[in-house]
Amino acid sequence: MDFEFWNNCWARPTQPFHLTAPHHFLTKYFPAYLSHQERVLLPLCGKTQDLNFLAKHGIHAIGIEFNPVAVDSFFKDSGLAPTITDEDGKARYQAPCIDLWCADFFDITTSDVGRFERIFDRAALIALPDELRPAYAQHLVKLLKSEGKILLVTMDYVAEEMSGPPFRIDLLELERLFPNAIIKELDRTSILDSHPRWRELKLSYLDEVLYDIHFNEL
Ligand SMILES: C[S@@+](CC[C@H](N)C(=O)[O-])C[C@H]1O[C@@H](n2cnc3c(N)ncnc32)[C@H](O)[C@@H]1O
Repeated sequence: MDFEFWNNCWARPTQPFHLTAPHHFLTKYFPAYLSHQERVLLPLCGKTQDLNFLAKHGIHAIGIEFNPVAVDSFFKDSGLAPTITDEDGKARYQAPCIDLWCADFFDITTSDVGRFERIFDRAALIALPDELRPAYAQHLVKLLKSEGKILLVTMDYVAEEMSGPPFRIDLLELERLFPNAIIKELDRTSILDSHPRWRELKLSYLDEVLYDIHFNEL
């Protein structure tokens, strides 16, 4: 796990992946996919506003993020004073409807967080290098209820034009990572104009793609 890469990233004043508003796919698909849920898991959550969006709708947002700078600035920026407890060496930050574990995703088990009917993965799988993705996918599935769904956002671009992260992940790779899953592309949108970095790289195209991943039985 390349913790140093992410620590360097969080030591900078801004992070290119961080959005100041909830993700557009989260808000668009919230009514159909999430509004009736009690809890939603956000793996590798950084300091995403998605946590606040869900919490404001009365849904328990459970985040996992190993970097303490990200976790502290999430609560500071949100004007929240969390209760912090130590659970088996893992720091757990709690505020109304928000439960943020400051820990390595791979150390979080069902004894810590239970299993979920909905997981929203934005910039988590696509942040991980090739060799970690199978273990990540397997661990994610362990945290999913048998009837649950993963809403997963990937990026699609010409592979030769950018090395990642964010890594390009297509349907074929998702099928390899989640064998036996039913995987459906739900939506796709160009984000070429969303950040100067993409224009600087002269990418031919850059799409965010939302997938619905679920299983008949686990
Ligand atoms: C590309 S960022 C995405 C953050 C967030 N999902 C968002 O939409 O803003 C990936 C995050 O994963 C965190 N991370 C990387 N590996 C991790 C791990 N093994 N356990 C927990 N967090 C991890 C990094 O610190 C970083 O904040």
